[in-house]
Amino acid sequence: SFPRRVRIVEVGPRDGLQNEARILPTERRIALIQGLVQAGLTIIEAGSFVSPKWVPQMADTASVLAGLDLDAGIAYPVLAPNMKGYSEARAAGAREVAIFAAASESFSQRNINCSIAESLDRFRPVAEAAAQDGVRLRGYVSCVLGCPYEGDVPVSRVRDVSQALMQLGCYEVSLGDTIGVGTPLKARAMLQTVAEAIPMAALALHFHDTYGMALANIFACLELGVSVIDAAVGGLGGCPYAAGASGNVSTEDLVTMLDGMGIETGIDREALIAAGQIAVAGLGHPARSKLAAARAQA
Ligand code: HMG
Ligand code: MG
Repeated sequence: SFPRRVRIVEVGPRDGLQNEARILPTERRIALIQGLVQAGLTIIEAGSFVSPKWVPQMADTASVLAGLDLDAGIAYPVLAPNMKGYSEARAAGAREVAIFAAASESFSQRNINCSIAESLDRFRPVAEAAAQDGVRLRGYVSCVLGCPYEGDVPVSRVRDVSQALMQLGCYEVSLGDTIGVGTPLKARAMLQTVAEAIPMAALALHFHDTYGMALANIFACLELGVSVIDAAVGGLGGCPYAAGASGNVSTEDLVTMLDGMGIETGIDREALIAAGQIAVAGLGHPARSKLAAARAQA
């Protein structure tokens, strides 16, 4: 049955901005995050500690953290794919990090330059250090509903990689439909299979909206009781390298759907639109949410 409350993990400042053609200046990224806090978000992925050659958009993540109040009860997770990233994240004050694996070998190679097994080996010391330091550890699995290089991905592989991340000590695994190729019944079947191995309370959805299916997929999965959903304000994202790829489901439209279903989120939609404006004003395109578009016409 449907959850009574959903925890939204805002990933716009990381997943959204990492895929925008323009780099948002540090000050504006901080203002965006502060706007998201005003809107009621309590978990905001603030950036990543990855190679600045690979992802120049995230190169200033330490400066972003330096501009935030890290003691105000808001979680600001950052991506840390290896010990170098973890050390830099800690030096910048991060108290939560995310490791990210894939359910497809080709995607793992292209994204983090190693096999799935090698990636788990690189995550192990990060997980051990995080446990030692009292740092919360979140996990991602990419390509849970399809891979841009391999096509269909077996759900058993999604389940196994998710389980490996839980065994490393993640409190939650976020299931990524990286290229948005999922459809509702497939999404639900995938979640059901993963939930055979991992409690539903420790699973999150991370659906990109390339083909406009993200909300429908989320709805289908909500019926199974999943209660954590990643979203990006303004549907930020797209991808300069993959034509047609698009951002995460927009936080605005997700909240509209959940509000209408009587599912609590604690988020103020009008304040959320305002936060999105801070970002898009620096990106050169309008917000990609139905709600923001409707307000702009009104
Ligand atoms: P690599 O080349 O295999 O690593 O990169 P390496 O250890 O051989 O190092 C090569 C160079 O990178 C060296 O620098 C290192 O110092 C540097 P050089 O000597 O050439 O000047 N380096 C680093 N620099 C900064 N931070 C680090 C770091 N590690 C090494 N942590 C690596 C491996 C993972 C770093 C690289 O492949 C990389 O940065 N990839 C980008 C990964 C990424 O950010 N992808 C996007 C996020 S994942 C995602 O979006 C999916 C998700 O949203 C879920 C979904 O939608 O499915 C989460
Ligand atoms: Mg993503």
